[in-house]
Amino acid sequence: MRKCALMLLSSITLAGTGTIALPAAAQTSNQQVDPDKKAAQVVAEMTQDERYALLHSIMPIAFGPEPLPKDVQGQPAMAGYVPPISRLGIPAITQTDASLGVTNPFQARKGDVATALPSGLALASSFNPELAYASGKMVGNEARAKGFNVLLGGGMNLARDPRNGRNFEYLGEDPLLAGTLGGNAVRGTQSEGVVSTVKHFAINDQETGRNTLNSVIDEASLRMSDLLAFEIGIEIGQPGSVMCAYNRVNGPWACGSDMLLNQVLKKDWGYKGWVMSDWGAVHDVDYAAKGLDQQAGAQLDKEIWFDGPLKAKVAKGEISQDRISDMSQRILRSLYAVGADRPLAKAEIDYDAHGKVALKGAEEGIVLLKNNGILPLAASTKNILVVGGHADIGVLSGGGSSQVTPVGGPAAILPIGGEGFLAAFGKALIVPSSPLAALKEQLPEANIQFDSGYFPNATAQAAKHADMVIVFATQWQIEALDAGSMALPQGQDDLIAAVAAANPNSVVVLETGNPVHMPWAKDVGAIMEAWYPGQRGGEAIANVLTGKVNPSGRLPISFPVDESQLPRPEIPGLGGPADAQFDVDYNIEGADVGYRWYAREGIKPAYPFGHGLSYTSFAHDNFKVTPKGDGLSASFTVRNTGKTAGADVPQVYLADAAGKSMRRLAGFDRVELAPGEARTVTVPLEWRVIADWATDGWEVAPGTYRFILATDALTDGVSASVKLKARHIKK
Ligand code: BGC
Repeated sequence: MRKCALMLLSSITLAGTGTIALPAAAQTSNQQVDPDKKAAQVVAEMTQDERYALLHSIMPIAFGPEPLPKDVQGQPAMAGYVPPISRLGIPAITQTDASLGVTNPFQARKGDVATALPSGLALASSFNPELAYASGKMVGNEARAKGFNVLLGGGMNLARDPRNGRNFEYLGEDPLLAGTLGGNAVRGTQSEGVVSTVKHFAINDQETGRNTLNSVIDEASLRMSDLLAFEIGIEIGQPGSVMCAYNRVNGPWACGSDMLLNQVLKKDWGYKGWVMSDWGAVHDVDYAAKGLDQQAGAQLDKEIWFDGPLKAKVAKGEISQDRISDMSQRILRSLYAVGADRPLAKAEIDYDAHGKVALKGAEEGIVLLKNNGILPLAASTKNILVVGGHADIGVLSGGGSSQVTPVGGPAAILPIGGEGFLAAFGKALIVPSSPLAALKEQLPEANIQFDSGYFPNATAQAAKHADMVIVFATQWQIEALDAGSMALPQGQDDLIAAVAAANPNSVVVLETGNPVHMPWAKDVGAIMEAWYPGQRGGEAIANVLTGKVNPSGRLPISFPVDESQLPRPEIPGLGGPADAQFDVDYNIEGADVGYRWYAREGIKPAYPFGHGLSYTSFAHDNFKVTPKGDGLSASFTVRNTGKTAGADVPQVYLADAAGKSMRRLAGFDRVELAPGEARTVTVPLEWRVIADWATDGWEVAPGTYRFILATDALTDGVSASVKLKARHIKK
């Protein structure tokens, strides 16, 4: 099989799995049919060839002179296509990336744009499941209107390393937060009759060597961290599909892992949907026996295993005919359950309405890390110098398969370069939403100048004459490439230091795919993390700077001071040959990912998980933890003690579990309050966060459990204790 560029890559008071007042589950959209029964009937009517035809998808994109297989010729460019079986009413399966908006690979569908959402880390910073639902729904709506019935999102790998090139597609370092938001995004997408795919299953937590590395981790740690995020996400969202990852997990490849696919996903969790491979992740036909149901983007593998080679295996009796029926059944079952078999018809998209979802996402996702009182910007500020980050034309976005071509087209595409995957994808796309233009619009009386920051010394001179300087600093990240370090690239630290030395009234706005090292932090007045803020990100940044919007984002990933605080200060395999096989030892931190690691090791990061400032202040009291049904719930009062309306994100952490001290997020809420307003809220606490994994299920040790109600993962808050009896919950 020919290789291609891609192949070289080789009223919400919810927390946890508690009740949520969200629109009805998507998967009930086709309520009149029993999807299992219907799928079984159709599978029984299918010929053998028809069953096999469902088991692989092809990318209808030609990467060289060879023609595409007949089946996909004439199809628009997309990630994967399976032809229809019209006589049985089975639609074509049309697969598109992904969670940050509908993509247009290589912009091959000329002029086709889509609403670009803020990054996954921005969504996670909102701690808002309703926003996740709305975002997923928006993408599902655009996918269907463009002719796609399977979305290859959402990504929900845990952020174990703040240099991982794909963290911007994911939902942070905590399993409860990632699972809750991921599951609600899936619900949103599927409410539009589009199958959602959670990925990359599992522990695909660095991009360096992703096609060759072996993630090493003991089962209990895996169950309590990365798998727990998927478990919660799958329970809430009921995604039609799960995408297995490129890497190995404790030996076998993730897409050929009997333990992950057959045992955990299908047996323990009772998952009824289908497992599709990542593109180019299938190395053998026997993955069919290990639990893989569909070989996706199949021309990227050495062979289209799930066609001729699979037929041969079945003929020899090495894989059963029942398994082939099961594979087809799972695919059809999900299409029927979600209503993705409904005919697709091109439809008008309400980009204005969708832009509002993107704007809200960016506003709620912005995290104010530091503020010495310089923000919100005083209306009387006369001379403002805006520096760097291409803030004159737009905001940065992340690269790779999740790259969206935004509405209005790219403001610029900056060539980064590289070979292999980077030759095709190594381009930084600037989304056309200029923070500079938005600031000028909001502050018509001010004199606002822009300086690209290209010559730091000249910029510093200009900074001396300004009343305030706002420096935009960017860090582009892309799938398949980790940031080698946490440093801002291209000398931006020097630029910020020079500006801050010239004018202490400086604000730094970060547009980064990850936490970054901030050696200048103490010298600037304020720091705002805007992530990749998407289609209306410029406006959102200006709204928060001027105080039109009160910041409410909280970090979903800790900002370590530098790499020396990480479990692996060096990225395993970095700089090594592309085909190097190596282990990544995740047993160092085990289930203690991110803030849990810092808590365990007594390390003080620059900004911990959960941190984020507001222009108002909040007080918490009456904190109680009480048994509720089979579980626990926390209740407390949140009061806005300041003069501005705003949203608080109270967080409940388990701090002591039967004599063991720790920090684990067990529940959270997002509460909007007018000045002076108080509200009592109740938050369910997630049992699987309180328990530990023991060989055959979750176990709660008897003893006293102390919880704290806090404003971030590492600062103490009010506490409440409860005595728990021993409990074992079988898997
Ligand atoms: C990525 C997946 C993506 C697929 C199809 C792969 O390279 O890892 O996340 O869905 O390509 O574009």
